[in-house]
Amino acid sequence: MALYNTEHGYGALTKALHWLVVALFAFQFAAANIMLRLDENATAMGVGQSTYYNWHKSIGLVALVVAVLRVLARRRGQLPEWAPTLSARKRAFIHRAEQVLYIAMFVMPVSGFLYVMAGGYGVNLFGVWELPNPIGTLPALAAGAKWTHIASAYVLTATLVGHVGLVLWHTLVLKDRLIRRMLPRRGV
Ligand code: HEM
Ligand code: HEM
Repeated sequence: MALYNTEHGYGALTKALHWLVVALFAFQFAAANIMLRLDENATAMGVGQSTYYNWHKSIGLVALVVAVLRVLARRRGQLPEWAPTLSARKRAFIHRAEQVLYIAMFVMPVSGFLYVMAGGYGVNLFGVWELPNPIGTLPALAAGAKWTHIASAYVLTATLVGHVGLVLWHTLVLKDRLIRRMLPRRGV
């Protein structure tokens, strides 16, 4: 399998980064839901609320680095041909959905970062490094960034339902093996 995308299929790097993003985003949604529901002094699975906040912020910034790598990797190769089983309407939908997902990979971490920095909460990266605050405390920016973070999370969720739903429909119902385009395999 080629490292970068070719006209015959996605490359190893795109596939690895795609599934890494899936894992990071799954963690982000899980951690966000736990930290927002937990009382300040309560724990979930032996872990306190502030640690969930810390992990959510730290992993979110890791996801931003992975998003940059992903875009760079995508630029190196050639985009694969569309799967032949996709109609023109589905291709248009997939194209739009993937654009939204790429935008979300940047808007989510950047808005989260702006919110906690402008709000004066800061980021203690994995509990070992207190990141400097490059923007200072700006309540209006913090409010806007928080709103953007939450609203984007809803847009992202709806888009993911469409993205995953279409892949599963094709793979499980139409049985055209669409998901294999993103799975590791030998050959091209
Ligand atoms: C891939 C990146 C990220 C994803 C997918 C993500 C996802 C989410 C989600 C789903 C929520 C819950 C929103 C709601 O209230 O319904 C949330 C909340 C939050 N996120 Fe993130 N996040 C990401 C990155 C970050 C980063 C980098 C930071 C900070 C450095 C951050 C800070 C926060 C904070 C403080 C909240 C709580 C907001 C509140 O008080 O309502 N997030 N995030
Ligand atoms: C279980 C969840 C997921 C499954 C089963 C899945 C499956 C797939 C498949 C099969 C493709 C290839 C579509 C094709 O061209 O034929 C794809 C592409 C893509 N997926 Fe996912 N995906 C999932 C989650 C995600 C998440 C969480 C994100 C980002 C937040 C994402 C972003 C993308 C993007 C941007 C592409 C286009 C890749 C490119 O052209 O560079 N996916 N996905």
